[in-house]
Amino acid sequence: MGPEGRGRLGRGMQMKPYIVAVFNQKGGISKTTTSTNLAVCLAACGKSVVLVDLDSQGDSTKSLNVDPDPGRGIYDVFVGAAELAEVIVPTIFHNLFIVPSTYSLAGIELKLSELKDSQRTLVNVFRKGEIDCDYIVIDCPPALGILPINALAAAHAVIIPVTATPYANDGLMRTLPSIKYVQEGLNKALVLQGVLFTISDRHRTTQRINEAVRARLGPAVYHVEIPRDTAVIEAASAGLPVCVYAPRSPAAAAHLAFAMEFIERHCQAAAKAGIDFDPGVSREQALHVLMEWQERHARTVGRPTGDRIAQGTSRLDRLLYGDRTRMERLHLGLVHFFIDNRLWLVAFLVATVGVFALLLGAGLSGVRKALSFVDLG
Ligand SMILES: Nc1ncnc2c1ncn2[C@@H]1O[C@H](COP(=O)(O)OP(=O)(O)O)[C@@H](O)[C@H]1O
Ligand SMILES: [Mg+2]
Repeated sequence: MGPEGRGRLGRGMQMKPYIVAVFNQKGGISKTTTSTNLAVCLAACGKSVVLVDLDSQGDSTKSLNVDPDPGRGIYDVFVGAAELAEVIVPTIFHNLFIVPSTYSLAGIELKLSELKDSQRTLVNVFRKGEIDCDYIVIDCPPALGILPINALAAAHAVIIPVTATPYANDGLMRTLPSIKYVQEGLNKALVLQGVLFTISDRHRTTQRINEAVRARLGPAVYHVEIPRDTAVIEAASAGLPVCVYAPRSPAAAAHLAFAMEFIERHCQAAAKAGIDFDPGVSREQALHVLMEWQERHARTVGRPTGDRIAQGTSRLDRLLYGDRTRMERLHLGLVHFFIDNRLWLVAFLVATVGVFALLLGAGLSGVRKALSFVDLG
């Protein structure tokens, strides 16, 4: 581990960390990508950040080039075997720290069910006030289990990433009631900071779903949308967030713009509450820092191979569209094409009816000819 992350995580700062959970009950919609890139962008803005990896898969731990099973992690804190401060690990990035996930986290449900007040374990951990930093970003696992409930109970704000495919969008509809459930009981102060469109493509169907969600949720949706970009998959294979792997790629630029929008919203909330808040450096300055990190770290991490990128792309397609065969995907593509282009659908139907009528006409005259031939005979 490089010395970078040692930064300024100390006990002297007065500011309470702003805790944000990145949550959607659905998997594969960019929660981890959003968490890691938000965390690294906030660090590039000069903020001190702790990322908490609450998913037993440890994807965000790996994305920050940290050993995915470092021995101790958030599991040990949950079960009282370690203090939070003992499991915080510096990353290769200045001012960015991580509380890693370990494989044992998969068994946490059972373990916590034995404890009293298990939904507030993380609240109590943070309340001890051991982390002095500007932001804590929590990467939640999919599904509404004890871990996301703990995250939502402990957070000031929640971000919901959403991918606008007809299959992934239902996650949002299941996620909003879960947040309401927490707001009504465990954490009345929890704010939905925003809904972020991720892995957006140019399909008109996608755009229509986005517009429908925007119409329904209004200003809760962030202006920035994160485009689908293979640079994200390359970055994940290289063990870096895309904002460091390729800071000028479309997805990285969008993630940085999102971090600025996130800070702006936090700033507005702080102003309303009468709290002084320093928004940090400008977007250009943050980009400059990210490019410095790219130069410094790109050569020290693994380069992704074509195979790994192809695997990543097909994994993403599976996540978004399910385990469909090629024919089913072709069919789905055709349906989407016709939904997007109704005129073509009309033209297709007219052409099909025309061809059918021609064939029918040819068939009838053939039958007539055959009959007259039989008659002659
Ligand atoms: N903007 C994007 N463009 C292309 N691929 C993306 C993008 N965002 C995420 N991915 C890929 O989608 C997959 C799922 O993303 P991930 O962040 O792990 O989702 P989750 O944490 O919600 O399961 C990963 O393979 C990731 O690399
Ligand atoms: Mg994840």
